[in-house]
Amino acid sequence: MPNMDRTHVMILCMPHEIVHPTPPVGGGTWLVTGGAGYIGSHVIGALLADGFDAVVIDDLSSGRASRVSASVPLVVGSVLDTALVTKTLQDHEVVGVVHLAARKAVGESMERPLWYYRENVGGMMSLLDAMTQAGVTRLVHSSSAAVYGESELTQVDEDSPTSPISPYGETKLVCEWMVRDYGLATGCSWYGLRYFNVAGAGSPDLGDTAVANLIPLVLRAVESGRPAQIFGADYATADGTCIRDYVHVADLAVAHVAAARHLIKGPASEILNIGTGRGASVREVITALEHALGEPIPAVVTDRRPGDPPAYWAVPRRAEEVIGWRATRTLQDIADSAVAAWRYSKLSPGN
Ligand code: WQD
Repeated sequence: MPNMDRTHVMILCMPHEIVHPTPPVGGGTWLVTGGAGYIGSHVIGALLADGFDAVVIDDLSSGRASRVSASVPLVVGSVLDTALVTKTLQDHEVVGVVHLAARKAVGESMERPLWYYRENVGGMMSLLDAMTQAGVTRLVHSSSAAVYGESELTQVDEDSPTSPISPYGETKLVCEWMVRDYGLATGCSWYGLRYFNVAGAGSPDLGDTAVANLIPLVLRAVESGRPAQIFGADYATADGTCIRDYVHVADLAVAHVAAARHLIKGPASEILNIGTGRGASVREVITALEHALGEPIPAVVTDRRPGDPPAYWAVPRRAEEVIGWRATRTLQDIADSAVAAWRYSKLSPGN
């Protein structure tokens, strides 16, 4: 194998005895796919604050170049472009990857399942191919609590049954399987982070621009003078509305850095729930937003949304045990930061 360097030979000949190249002091350069997005821009900030360097690949289909720090190279393109990803890994001497680039709208995935499989599963496959070619052996990837589906359980841990009920959730679970099998075959180290309900903003200019989640939808209703909609108030919960585990995006970003730090320390292959371990109902979220706004938010109860589990939240113990991470911010912190970002976006349209 004249043109293969030692790393490739190690991967091909002794898949379970891989030698992960030692990164430079500080942690080295990590590729963040989707780094121009809502979560990605927070992850970049957290990586830089912790002494890492970063490079971003993003197709800007939903991300914004303005969200990528000027000190971070931005490669505009898709993770489906394996050659581009390989070149980016090699050119920047990347030591690890944080993979966030994916489609994540549950409703959209019901309408366009094949596109979701191509983008999310095909994107992960392309990334793993590129990592193999470039000899990169560390991966933190974004999974989702959506893999649990309509769980009978209200508190779910990483060993709880997975039964996704949307193509979005299915693509996330398939990607978990792919990464697990790839790691077993090649020795690549990885953490898969199952996000619960990510919300809030680490700074006003980094608000969540997603249109499909509770908090942006409520704030959009306030902006348009329409009542917020509560999708069902007849669930078997204390106030009748659905319960979820809302985790501040700044806390979520720190979880990625903790995972990257632990991948540098040594081998890993773990799925971790990234949630607070506390559930909040739709009405409680609306109340927190009212406190942040300083005014009441009119709301109407509408029909249930199909596929909504009544209540689930994380058992976050393993993330604390394995990577030393736990959420520090409260639901009110989430609401306050979301309102601050919403007000900022109204003052600076297009941000
Ligand atoms: C939350 C609750 C709705 C809007 C999301 C996504 C995905 C994943 C998990 C990362 C539900 C209710 C909503 C509204 C409402 N995270 N609601 N009125 O469905 O829990 O899942 O988080 O991958 O982002 O799958 O989030 O924000 O859509 O809904 O009453 O106008 O709010 O019924 O109970 P969901 P959501």
